[in-house]
Amino acid sequence: MRTLTVNSAVLKKLAATLGLVMVCASAWALTDKQLADVESRIQPAGKVCLQGDNACGAAVASVGGAAKSGEEVYKSSCQGCHASGAGNAPKFGDVADWGKRAEQGLDTVYKHAIEGFSNIGMMPAKGLCMSCSDDEVMAAVDYILENSK
Ligand code: HEC
Repeated sequence: MRTLTVNSAVLKKLAATLGLVMVCASAWALTDKQLADVESRIQPAGKVCLQGDNACGAAVASVGGAAKSGEEVYKSSCQGCHASGAGNAPKFGDVADWGKRAEQGLDTVYKHAIEGFSNIGMMPAKGLCMSCSDDEVMAAVDYILENSK
């Protein structure tokens, strides 16, 4: 008889536990908003944004769109060479080197950045940022010069 009472007590506990599990399971169903929140948290950090695409928050700048700042262009297209001085690129912040280049006149420096230039190294046209407008490349040159004097 004793074992029976124990068993029914165990059964009661089991039923209570099962009930709890079921309550939890129904609470597990997420609302749409929670789902959207979770999805936004787990999406890849480096999302690819195409020109004219609104998926990344602000529209990616395109012709006639909002221009990228000099700093943005520098960081995405120029610092690969100009931060380290790779391939004889004048180094960002090198006052003497940029000072000499600025002496040719700003127009020439802009032109070299836009069309490319090769004397002691190879400066590719627009630093290979083919989607950059001339103005954006010039803004990047301004940003470099501003921080190298
Ligand atoms: C692949 C490497 C590379 C990238 C990317 C690059 N540059 Fe250069 N850049 C160079 C090199 C090398 C030189 C030096 C060329 C020389 O003096 O012969 C140079 C020189 C320059 C000069 C000096 C031109 C002159 O008249 O002396 C400017 C201005 C310039 N780069 C701007 C930029 C800007 C703005 C970007 C980004 C939009 C950029 N560069 C991206 C390698 C690069």
